Amino acid sequence: MIFDEYAIKSLIRPVPGFPKEGVTFRDITPLFQSPKGLRMVADSLIQRYIDSPVTHIGAIDARGFLIGSILAYELNRPLVLFRKAGKLPADTISAGYATEYGEATLQMHRDALTGGEQVLLLDDLIATGGTFLAAASLVRQCGADVYEAAAIIDLPDLGGSQVMQDSGIPTYTLCAFA
Ligand code: PRP
Ligand code: ADE
Ligand code: MG
Repeated sequence: MIFDEYAIKSLIRPVPGFPKEGVTFRDITPLFQSPKGLRMVADSLIQRYIDSPVTHIGAIDARGFLIGSILAYELNRPLVLFRKAGKLPADTISAGYATEYGEATLQMHRDALTGGEQVLLLDDLIATGGTFLAAASLVRQCGADVYEAAAIIDLPDLGGSQVMQDSGIPTYTLCAFA
């Protein structure tokens, strides 16, 4: 299926004032409600990474799980979950971060990566980059590398993708809202 950025963007709903004043929330639920839209997004990411040296897919709680598990299945790679604090049951490592509208802590199971892996991190959107930077710090704590951080949406005006690239994390996004 041919990737159509205009079609993808038209399936992302802007919600002004959510979750607080001054934020325009980019709602991906219409995109996931569209089988054609979801297939376009999934197929273009599969095509990008199918022949890459990526060894593991790292999916970020919660919206990153939606596309992360599709990629792990299609690329036949292990899926590592990066979860909000308090959800993972075994021994964890943690990293705190701030986003466009809040603060949180991300955790992963200490034994999910053992060192030397090439991890593809996946989420729905890059705003300040805080979430991806926290996930990348957990990957690096394990002695693994971030191959790339991929998202459906970039919000370049919030500077996150630039900060990530300045921190040595390659980024890839399918569309941007400036
Ligand atoms: C949202 C979004 C990204 C993050 C991006 O997650 O899904 O994960 O914010 O912002 P940043 O680049 O400033 O870190 P959020 O934790 O708000 O909600 P979710 O649990 O629905 O994914
Ligand atoms: N996460 C951080 N900023 C966001 C936004 N503007 N829309 C959706 N998710 C977000
Ligand atoms: Mg999220």
